[in-house]
Amino acid sequence: MADLFEDKADDWDERPVPTQISTGVVGALRRTLTFEPDWTVMDFGAGTGLLSGAIAPDVDKIFAVDISQAMLARLVEKPALAGKVEAFCQDIMHTPLDRKVDLVVSAMALHHVEDTAALMKTLFEHLEPGGRIALADLDREEGDFHPPGAEGVFHHGFDREALGEVIARAGFGETRFVTATEVHKEDKAYPVFLVTARKPS
Ligand SMILES: C[S@@+](CC[C@H](N)C(=O)[O-])C[C@H]1O[C@@H](n2cnc3c(N)ncnc32)[C@H](O)[C@@H]1O
Repeated sequence: MADLFEDKADDWDERPVPTQISTGVVGALRRTLTFEPDWTVMDFGAGTGLLSGAIAPDVDKIFAVDISQAMLARLVEKPALAGKVEAFCQDIMHTPLDRKVDLVVSAMALHHVEDTAALMKTLFEHLEPGGRIALADLDREEGDFHPPGAEGVFHHGFDREALGEVIARAGFGETRFVTATEVHKEDKAYPVFLVTARKPS
């Protein structure tokens, strides 16, 4: 499978849009959840670890899951994450992790996965009873956030109500949406939501 982020990985952490989004998402995560020091967390679509790096001090362990070897290579070379964040370069919808987590976080990865319903079921299966998801992505946009014809972009953001239904059908309860941040690109504003939900205990 081609690594669609190979040419983006090297300067990802210096790009204004990903850094602005991850800062906003981390703020929303902190306002919405109370991290527990014994939690094991999955960062789905972790990339270079912008999210993992910010929350690593608050939890026990992070599994950084991504299908881009290039993005994960940037993550694992960060000294602050050594011993705390373990990288898994695999598609967990086909090859699940062999362990469960207390929380799944994600920033801007959902729109890269074609089958959202299957992804939600996969995340549900990876959670301990009572575990949570906290997933951030673009609200429904007009298809101009990415360059025309961008490969690997399956959704132009998400309608909150429709996504909430998909999350409920996967088995989650207590679904809540907040606006995490609003990112600006070429004079246009794109809201980013954070959705949280809980697997029944
Ligand atoms: C826009 S980047 C966001 C990276 C990071 N979360 C951040 O906020 O900087 C999307 C990431 O999702 C990853 N991704 C795409 N499809 C995936 C899949 N099926 N499983 C895991 N990661 C995936 C990409 O490789 C990429 O690293």
